[in-house]
Amino acid sequence: MAAPADPSESPGALLAAIELHKRFGATPALDGASLRVDAGEIVALMGPSGSGKSTLLHCLAGIVGPDAGEVHYGTRRLSAMSEAGRSALRRGEFGFVFQFGQLVPELTCAENVALPLRLGGVGRRAARERAHAQLARLGVDDVAGKRPGEVSGGQGQRVAVARALVSEPRVIFADEPTGALDSLNGEEVMRLLTEAARTAAAAVVLVTHDARVAAYSDREVVVRDGRTRSLAG
Ligand SMILES: Nc1ncnc2c1ncn2[C@@H]1O[C@H](COP(=O)(O)OP(=O)(O)O)[C@@H](O)[C@H]1O
Ligand SMILES: [Mg+2]
Repeated sequence: MAAPADPSESPGALLAAIELHKRFGATPALDGASLRVDAGEIVALMGPSGSGKSTLLHCLAGIVGPDAGEVHYGTRRLSAMSEAGRSALRRGEFGFVFQFGQLVPELTCAENVALPLRLGGVGRRAARERAHAQLARLGVDDVAGKRPGEVSGGQGQRVAVARALVSEPRVIFADEPTGALDSLNGEEVMRLLTEAARTAAAAVVLVTHDARVAAYSDREVVVRDGRTRSLAG
């Protein structure tokens, strides 16, 4: 049974996309996509390549502005905020994990994890301590002093997860976080990501086309041709 996602059904949602439309030139990416995410909930966006999953994630995170429709974060409307306001929201409340970790190659793994804290004004020493503690929680404290080019793909994604979590975000956006890993490392990264999110009561918006990855979520939403459909059950 599929039912249309209706954010008005949950007025207390942490994050809600309402009837989003977005075109890139002549290409429609979103065509009436809606989604709600509750605090601490892990939602998987599933669907074929090109269906609009990443665009929906970018709109939810305030990285891309929709042509029509609204994104609400709590009581705030993202479109009513300044770019600086959205940027502060991303830094303070959101964490990001992408397919290819996107760690800064010139920094050590510990410095990469400390970076969001430093950008948020945390002092060098406190940031370093929190980075090391987060790396330890994800079982990769042994690579703290190495550069991203010197660690394996699985280790690099764990470092990326540590970086996403270190600022204690309310929402973690993960776009194909295991897409470049073999299935064993992928499962391990998903286990660590979801365990850490649950411990921190952070919500996760997870994009994947892998049903085994989506199985780590509380709820799956199918994106097709720029529209969302919730799967009941
Ligand atoms: N920056 C962009 N410029 C042009 N077209 C884009 C851009 N981003 C996405 N698209 C197009 O929008 C559609 C949806 O893309 P996307 O959201 O990346 O899908 P998915 O993540 O499901 O693979 C695709 O047709 C894609 O080519
Ligand atoms: Mg994508």
